[in-house]
Amino acid sequence: MERSHDENPYLLLTPGPLSTSPAVRRAMLRDWCTWDDDYNVGVVQVIREKRLRLAMRDGDAAITSVLMQGSGTFCVEAVVGTALPREGKLLVLSNGVYGRRIAQIAKVLDIPHVVHESGEGRPPDLARLRSELRADLQITHVAVVHGETSTGMLNPVEEVGALVKEAGRSLIVDAMSTFGGVPLDFETCGVDWLVSSSNKCIQGVPGFGFVLVRRGQLEACAGRARSLSLDVYDQWRTMETGRGKWRFTSPTHTVRAFLQALVELEEEGGVAARHARYATNQRLLRDGMLALGFEPLLPTEWQSPIITAFHAPAHPDYRFADFYGRLKQQGFVIYPGSITETPTFRIGTIGHVFPEDVKRLLGAVRGAMYWSKAA
Ligand SMILES: Cc1ncc(COP(=O)(O)O)c(C=O)c1O
Repeated sequence: MERSHDENPYLLLTPGPLSTSPAVRRAMLRDWCTWDDDYNVGVVQVIREKRLRLAMRDGDAAITSVLMQGSGTFCVEAVVGTALPREGKLLVLSNGVYGRRIAQIAKVLDIPHVVHESGEGRPPDLARLRSELRADLQITHVAVVHGETSTGMLNPVEEVGALVKEAGRSLIVDAMSTFGGVPLDFETCGVDWLVSSSNKCIQGVPGFGFVLVRRGQLEACAGRARSLSLDVYDQWRTMETGRGKWRFTSPTHTVRAFLQALVELEEEGGVAARHARYATNQRLLRDGMLALGFEPLLPTEWQSPIITAFHAPAHPDYRFADFYGRLKQQGFVIYPGSITETPTFRIGTIGHVFPEDVKRLLGAVRGAMYWSKAA
């Protein structure tokens, strides 16, 4: 795999859009006709029917995939708006920005919902979830964020899935920032709907998202969507009957780049190998930052390999913008914090990023600590 970052002025240590490989970027250098089989059959269907089967067991025909224009939020909104029947009710597990966003989507779409809030960076209370599901029989669906990107936390999807299945409800998983980089098995986790996007752990470029869903659940959703364009059922019907045809203009170049990114995921050794690389990146980052005096927000048992939040230094001279600028000058772009309870900054360890990049970053961080004697 080409490791060059020469075409970019700096490495993106962000949760996506992230640093991509030169071959992914090169894959966008030709044009495609959205009516032609070269694109619909040769690119879209190959993605849908072959390459996206990362969470499925071999030969599992019960799960189907739908590609959807827009950023990740569009796709989460499409799923919530399509999956919930008129008489449905959603329970949202929330412990950060993206859990709150699902609740906001339900509110805007006028979908009855309850929020199980466990606090930023704290896992859901599973005993409370069990009693909530027992007490409120109106709840038809539960939504959980797999990797809560605002804190870097990995939520216990398998345990949540077991409780949701025990209660006979449907499970929606926002796996935006984890899918392709953290193993997740549909069966083991009891997933019914999974949402992710092109520019996260598959390492493509932004422009669309995708939904993996149990065919039986999707087939029951005809005419349910609260939006014309964000109708997962209708998009799926068109892709099935039109052999890869999208209903409305598709982001052709981005989709072609995504196919290249999926090929590279397989070449790397699949999700397990990618997960191992991200975990090595994260471990190096965490250990190196601890040695420099930074304090991670989360204990290791909840920490994902995707992105790490660090407490902002308490020194009165510390300013995120200054720290950021000094890192950027040295070839690294990091991310501000986004949670409300604690000032943080975040560093992503996903994308076309390797342990040697993390080691170089740690040298740059040392050089950027203008407020500290360690610099
Ligand atoms: C877990 C999660 N859900 C949803 C989103 C929203 O995706 P987008 O910003 O592409 O709309 C993100 C974005 O980072 C995310 O990490």
